[in-house]
Amino acid sequence: MSHSRLRLRLLTLISILFIITTTTTDLVAASLRCRPDQTETLKRFKNEFSFSSSCSDDADFFRGVTCDNVTGAVTVLKLPGGCLRGTLRPNSSLFELSHLRYLNLSFNNFASSSLTSAFGQLKNLEILLLSSNGFIGQVPSSIRNHTKLTQLQLSHNKLTGDLTSLVQNLTKLSALDLSYNQFSGTIPSSLFTLPFLSYLDLSENHLTGSLEIPNFSSSKLQILMLSFLHLSHQIDLRIFSPLKSLSYLHLSGNSLTPTSVDSDIDFTKTLRILLLSGCNISDFPRFLKSLQNLEYLDLSDNRIKGNVPDWLWSLPRLTSLNLYNNSFTGFEGSLDRVLANSSVQVLDMAYNCFRGSFPDPPLFIINLSAWNNSFTGDIPLSTCNRTFLDVLDLSYNNFTGSIPPCIGNFNIVNLRKNKLEGNIPDEFYSGASTQTLDLGYNRLTGKLPRSLLNCTQLKFVSLDHNRINDTFPLWLKALPSLKVLTLRSNRFHGPISPPDDQGPLAFPKLQILEISHNRFTGSLPVNYFANWSATSLKTDDEERLYMGDYTSDRFGYEETLDLQYKGLYMEQGKVLTFYSAIDFSGNKLEGEIPESIGLLKALIALNLSNNSFTGHIPMSFGNVTELESLDLSGNKISGEIPQELGRLSYLAYIDVSNNRLTGQIPQGTQIIGQPKSSFEGNLGLCGLPLEETCFREKIPSTQEQEEEEEEEAILKWKAVAIGYGPGVLFGLAIAHVVALYKPEWFIKNYGQDRLRGIRCL
Ligand SMILES: *[C@@H]1O[C@H](CO)[C@@H](O)[C@H](O)[C@H]1NC(C)=O
Ligand SMILES: *[C@@H]1O[C@H](CO)[C@@H](O)[C@H](O)[C@H]1NC(C)=O
Ligand SMILES: *[C@@H]1O[C@H](CO)[C@@H](O)[C@H](O)[C@H]1NC(C)=O
Ligand SMILES: *[C@@H]1O[C@H](CO)[C@@H](O)[C@H](O)[C@H]1NC(C)=O
Ligand SMILES: *[C@@H]1O[C@H](CO)[C@@H](O)[C@H](O)[C@H]1NC(C)=O
Ligand SMILES: *[C@@H]1O[C@H](CO)[C@@H](O)[C@H](O)[C@H]1NC(C)=O
Ligand SMILES: *[C@@H]1O[C@H](CO)[C@@H](O)[C@H](O)[C@H]1NC(C)=O
Ligand SMILES: *[C@@H]1O[C@H](CO)[C@@H](O)[C@H](O)[C@H]1NC(C)=O
Ligand SMILES: *[C@@H]1O[C@H](CO)[C@@H](O)[C@H](O)[C@H]1NC(C)=O
Ligand SMILES: *[C@@H]1O[C@H](CO)[C@@H](O)[C@H](O)[C@H]1NC(C)=O
Ligand SMILES: *[C@@H]1O[C@H](CO)[C@@H](O)[C@H](O)[C@H]1NC(C)=O
Ligand SMILES: *[C@@H]1O[C@H](CO)[C@@H](O)[C@H](O)[C@H]1NC(C)=O
Repeated sequence: MSHSRLRLRLLTLISILFIITTTTTDLVAASLRCRPDQTETLKRFKNEFSFSSSCSDDADFFRGVTCDNVTGAVTVLKLPGGCLRGTLRPNSSLFELSHLRYLNLSFNNFASSSLTSAFGQLKNLEILLLSSNGFIGQVPSSIRNHTKLTQLQLSHNKLTGDLTSLVQNLTKLSALDLSYNQFSGTIPSSLFTLPFLSYLDLSENHLTGSLEIPNFSSSKLQILMLSFLHLSHQIDLRIFSPLKSLSYLHLSGNSLTPTSVDSDIDFTKTLRILLLSGCNISDFPRFLKSLQNLEYLDLSDNRIKGNVPDWLWSLPRLTSLNLYNNSFTGFEGSLDRVLANSSVQVLDMAYNCFRGSFPDPPLFIINLSAWNNSFTGDIPLSTCNRTFLDVLDLSYNNFTGSIPPCIGNFNIVNLRKNKLEGNIPDEFYSGASTQTLDLGYNRLTGKLPRSLLNCTQLKFVSLDHNRINDTFPLWLKALPSLKVLTLRSNRFHGPISPPDDQGPLAFPKLQILEISHNRFTGSLPVNYFANWSATSLKTDDEERLYMGDYTSDRFGYEETLDLQYKGLYMEQGKVLTFYSAIDFSGNKLEGEIPESIGLLKALIALNLSNNSFTGHIPMSFGNVTELESLDLSGNKISGEIPQELGRLSYLAYIDVSNNRLTGQIPQGTQIIGQPKSSFEGNLGLCGLPLEETCFREKIPSTQEQEEEEEEEAILKWKAVAIGYGPGVLFGLAIAHVVALYKPEWFIKNYGQDRLRGIRCL
């Protein structure tokens, strides 16, 4: 589990390396003229499967086919990914193409097909690529018949069995990728004696036993990936010393023997990339000192204490260093020189115990992250002298003093939760590149700098919990990309609606507007929410992106945002751009809730609580179909609750307590499952979940029924979570479920985070 916010796009690097090893010039140079019987066989093969609509075109299918220019037999078959779906049967026409030398079926869906022994009929195969195909079961022993294989890629399937028999006769292999499967047993040491093997990936399997690499191992092995093997023994790093050509070693997620980490290992000097994340390391590895070609080093998620040694910064080629989540407390050497002279460009020191002043950063730094430490003193002015600096994240520290004047030079600036004071510098010049500006939880005063208008790429502005004394920044609507604006808990005052002659507010891209706990006054015109285009559009799942998806080609970044959501105040690790929320709570707003709220089709959370709103709840709420959380408590709203609210199927949290509401509570599944307190303190509400009935006869209200409803609601939430699809959205959807029904889970996790303090003592 890594929370590192900076990540080199290592995957790209790995796939490039694989492509380099899989280029075979003689295969590509053949004619396209195929024998008629071969074409017929291909058509029969194609017809065995259903095709996704995006690639039903024959031309697409045959584009990846190459035939021998003498015999006319199919020798190369490269199918586009994501096209085929169905079972690959032993009697498939594919296996009649016995002259195949290159076969790439990766990223198709043969869900639950086994890897049939019929592959053994393709005796001429040199390259076989079957990644991410949904294959299950054992690899058949006929794989041994492929004695000409140079490349075999079976990653991301659910294959099982032992590796020993699998590779017995594949002596020509130069690249072997079996990662992300369920292979078990020991790692055969014969793998390391394959004479041509240069690429080996066994990551994420269930391999046990101890790892042995014979003395007379292949001198060709360059890329070795053995992360998360679930070995029963710790790995002794010294075993890798026979591998004299190694340039990439990935051992993350395996325990290393402490003695080997602390020794001077005779590691090959060719090593460029070393990943030792989550390896249970407690002392800084000394052998690194001799790795003069090291470019990328990952030591994150270990238990390393004390100072970072000064020699690390003088490794001449080191460009990317990840020290995330250890217990480092400081630096060896002088703070104004030791890092400054280093070649490091991407540096992650977050989640450690660093204290004292912040060192002058490396001269060529691009990406600097040091959040969640205990740094004190000023942010060094030298950061303003680093011309390549793009991402600066010093959040969750104890920095004091003022904000450096140059923050407009950086793409991403996060200084959240420090003790910074003074004004936000009014020095955003034209061409300022800031996209993300998070200065929340500091002691900032003065007004919002008008020069922010020069940051035309600004997407995310969070200034919550400061002492900024200004009027509502209507002028920010001139920023074409602004998606999130958070001004919670400041000293903003005055109206939040534009003067009559300026038309509706209409921020073009705004999706989250959080201005609670200020001193805003006045009423909102009926058309207040008209033309909020971003919030009015429902987005397709595919278009939903991470808020912080500001990807340059080198790293990704995620913002955090505290949101009051469904009555729980929680700190969100990730925020999604599809997420639309409005929070005006804790101000002095009055008048009616504008009917135009019904235009915000993508709104999922609305909080207008603790103001002085009057009038009725607008019927148009029935049109805000995505709404999950609605808080109107602590106002002076009268009349009945519109029945339309009972039909909002995602509405999982509602609070209308302490108003002047009367009449029957709409009896939708979602509403009657709410706690009583959500409806209390009104003039005359009746119906479930309150005990007051609306009719004379008694409505049976048993505990059982309530529990049943709650269970139903949970199921519904699960369905939503699954509907969102795995991966990107899963985290948030699950967080919703959990926040709603299991708040204690959050509290527990929060508590664990706080343990950091104990670790740092
Ligand atoms: C087949 O193609 C290869 C590569 O283009 C070429 O060298 C060879 O001469 C061709 N053979 C015939 C018979 O055309
Ligand atoms: C195999 O095909 C898939 C799908 O087209 C593609 O993404 C992948 O890069 C190919 N693999 C190689 C090594 O060319
Ligand atoms: C292949 O075998 C399946 C049963 O396993 C059968 O239904 C199918 O007709 C066979 N296909 C051909 C082309 O023989
Ligand atoms: C594999 O090769 C052996 C001997 O070369 C042969 O007997 C066997 O039938 C082959 N298996 C397959 C599935 O082709
Ligand atoms: C595999 O190798 C063994 C010896 O290592 C040999 O006896 C056997 O015939 C080989 N099998 C094939 C199918 O080549
Ligand atoms: C490997 O070789 C070295 C000397 O080159 C020797 O000291 C060591 O014992 C050998 N290890 C094994 C496992 O054979
Ligand atoms: C981690 O290291 C400590 C001591 O260094 C050891 O006691 C512990 O067993 C190791 N954990 C694992 C999973 O190897
Ligand atoms: C900041 O300093 C205060 C005491 O001055 C301390 O209680 C707090 O834990 C420190 N915060 C961090 C993140 O180090
Ligand atoms: C910034 O760089 C200039 C020249 O490179 C130097 O004169 C100045 O002292 C530097 N400022 C800081 C704060 O390091
Ligand atoms: C934008 O930057 C220019 C200098 O590049 C400055 O003159 C101007 O005042 C800035 N705009 C605002 C609104 O401050
Ligand atoms: C805000 O600033 C104005 C002057 O611009 C001052 O009169 C007022 O007292 C300030 N309000 C707060 C809460 O600091
Ligand atoms: C809801 O939206 C529909 C069309 O989208 C509109 O006709 C209807 O008047 C709206 N209802 C309310 C109460 O605003």
